Order: sequence, then C-alpha cells, then structure tokens
Amino acid sequence: MQLMPQPFMAVPVTDRVYWVGALDWHIADFHGYRTERGTTYNAFLVLADKVTLIDTVKRPFLDEMLYRISSVIDPSKIEVIVSNHSEMDHSGSLIETAKAVNASKVYASANGVKALDAHFHHALDVEAVPNAGSVSLGTMTLQCFETKMIHWPDSMVSFLHEEKILFSQDAFGMHLATSNLFADENDRHVMQWEAGKYYANIVMPYSAIVATTLEALAGLKLPIATIAPDHGPIWRTPDDIAWILGLYAKFVAQKPTRKVVIVHDTMWGSTDLMARAVADGVRAAGVKVQEIPMHGAHRSNVATEVLDAGALIVGSPTMNSTIYPAMADVLTYLKGLKRKNLMGAVFGSFGWGANSIKELTDYMTAMGVELVAGPVKVNYVPTRDDLLQCSALGKAVAEELKKRC
Ligand code: FEO
Repeated sequence: MQLMPQPFMAVPVTDRVYWVGALDWHIADFHGYRTERGTTYNAFLVLADKVTLIDTVKRPFLDEMLYRISSVIDPSKIEVIVSNHSEMDHSGSLIETAKAVNASKVYASANGVKALDAHFHHALDVEAVPNAGSVSLGTMTLQCFETKMIHWPDSMVSFLHEEKILFSQDAFGMHLATSNLFADENDRHVMQWEAGKYYANIVMPYSAIVATTLEALAGLKLPIATIAPDHGPIWRTPDDIAWILGLYAKFVAQKPTRKVVIVHDTMWGSTDLMARAVADGVRAAGVKVQEIPMHGAHRSNVATEVLDAGALIVGSPTMNSTIYPAMADVLTYLKGLKRKNLMGAVFGSFGWGANSIKELTDYMTAMGVELVAGPVKVNYVPTRDDLLQCSALGKAVAEELKKRC
C-alpha cells in the first residue's frame, strides 16, 4: 500500500522498531510536579509478524501518535497492544487506539488488567501476562517483567529479544520535551537534573522495592542494547546505558553527601536573615549549601535538591499560630516522598507564640530526619547574638555531616 504523507513522522529506533509518541511542550504541572521543560509520551511500534504497539499516549495526543504510525504502516495492521503502565499519561488513549487500529489483543500485567478495568469500567478486553511471561509476535518475542511501584502497582517492562530493546515505561525516564529523541543527542547536565527530578518526585517513595526489582532484572542478564522509557530520551549507547543505570544506583541508595539544603519562608525578613546566617555557618565548615527561599520556589525543585543531600534545615516564622503555608506545602510533600538518611535542624522567628518550632520539629520527626542541632528561635528581629546562634547551628549540622560522609 502507498503510504500518504503525514504531518507527524515516526522516528526509527532500529530497522523494525519506531518511536511513535508525542512531544508535550506546554505541560507545566504533572500531578503537583512542575515540568518546566515539558515532557514526552513515548510509544513504540514494533514491525513484527504481528505488528505491535508498546504503550500509547495521553488522550489529547492520540491523533499525533496515529499520524506517526501512519507514516510507517496502515494503523489497521496493528494486531497487538502492550500496556506497560496504566497511568493515564500512557493509557489515556488506549480505548480509542484499540478501536482505531482494530487490535485483536491488548496485554497488561495482572495488576494492569485490574487498573485498566477500574479506569475504563471494563470497556476493553485486556489479557494478563504473567511475570516473566512472553507474548509471541510471530517473528519476535516480547518478554514482560513486573516492576511493581515503578511507578504504580501495575507497572511492567517488556524486553524485545530480537532487537535487544527494554521498554522500561516510567523507569529511567524524565519529563523533558526535546526534539532530540536519543540520550546521546542531549546535554547530560540537563538529563542528570531531569532524571533526578523525576526520580525524586515520582519514584523515591518506593526506593526499597525499586532496588529489589532492579537487582532482580540485572540478575536476568538480559542483553540490553537500548532502553526505551515512556518519558524522555531513549538510551541507545553502552555509555549512556551505563550512565543512567549508575545514576539509578545512586538514587536508590540515598546515601548522604556533604550537601545541606536550607528551606525557609519569611514574613518581615527575620527568618530570611536567620537562614542566611545558618547557610554561612554551613559554608564556613566547608560543606556545600543550597538555600531555597520558598517565596517563588516550587516543591518539586526542593525535592530534587534534597535527593542527593545529607542534611535538611528548615525555617519558618509563626503566622496565625502555625507555620507559613508554603512551608506546610513543601514539608507535606517531602514527607510523602520519604527521603531516607537525612539529618537536620529547625529554626524560626515569632512575635507572640513560637509554634512554628514545634510544628517544624513534628514534620521533621515524621519525615524521619534526625535533628542534630538547635533549634534556634528568635523573638521578632534577630540580634547579633541570635545570628551567631544561627551560624553555629549551620556549622554544627555541617560538622556532624562531615563525620558521617
Ligand atoms: Fe508516566 Fe506513572 O506515569
């Protein structure tokens, strides 16, 4: 059949596998995570005997994906769809795609079948693939492995043996819209930040199970030549694959480093002045410090900075008998992300009730942060002695950190 010119083209990953996803340059918020660089919804077309689509795209990008598929093959030739992950950024267009391409089989993990049924109310017949089970595509074989909690309980990855491609869904991905679809075409500094941001904000709470899963996958010794995640660049060189696997090993370990993150907000500048003195104490002890005033900062960038930190110090004035709203926001968020192995301290200013110190302490305790100095609290405006106490607080945390890493 003569293929018609299409407004969106597929991009070859290998001779028999094509990227047919979509670029979303405009998304700024991904369930509470600020995506300043947009994102990609990667989907892949496998030209096996049974033509197969691996994952789909977020619902508004359905047409773009279908155009890309049409640039390679008549979409009605797709017989199989594999849904590696049920979250709607990947499965939002699954029903429409299945109808548009007339697929005879849709596969997901056992938990994926339940999740898709719950989302689509049984509108689609989905068959479960057992863990490590295979789907025959005729000339090729796709083997599926459950990767529960990377990022949902339904998640699985699929390995296409003949092309040595691991379709890794959320794992090893990042929110990054880029016309350069391969990792070797992108700036590593940008990818390091975005991969870390993705891990910190999406995967970090499940680090223990991620560690076990990645170890089990590594034990299979699959001859992986390409890792194709559902978001961000595709890893196709041995150097890039080793690099992202190495980064994940660090993310999972959550080992403290000599870096202190100071997060605070301020009303009339007193807590800000205290934060600057705390930071100076850290710096004077020879430890890296990242100050983040919450005025204008976003919780997801704080989480990214905390990912490789060794200590977290938080400060807030008391307002209306509680902490500043931006501090409650970021601490609630960080509590859910469950970063392990942190030490820290708290500080704050107050007028007629120093409740912020107790609330900050409660948050830090609930987060499992070991408080190793302080707290420092200041009535209204810090004196020189108060600021010396703040500087000493920063120095004490930094010195303790140096003893441990
Ligand atoms: Fe990219 Fe968990 O969805």
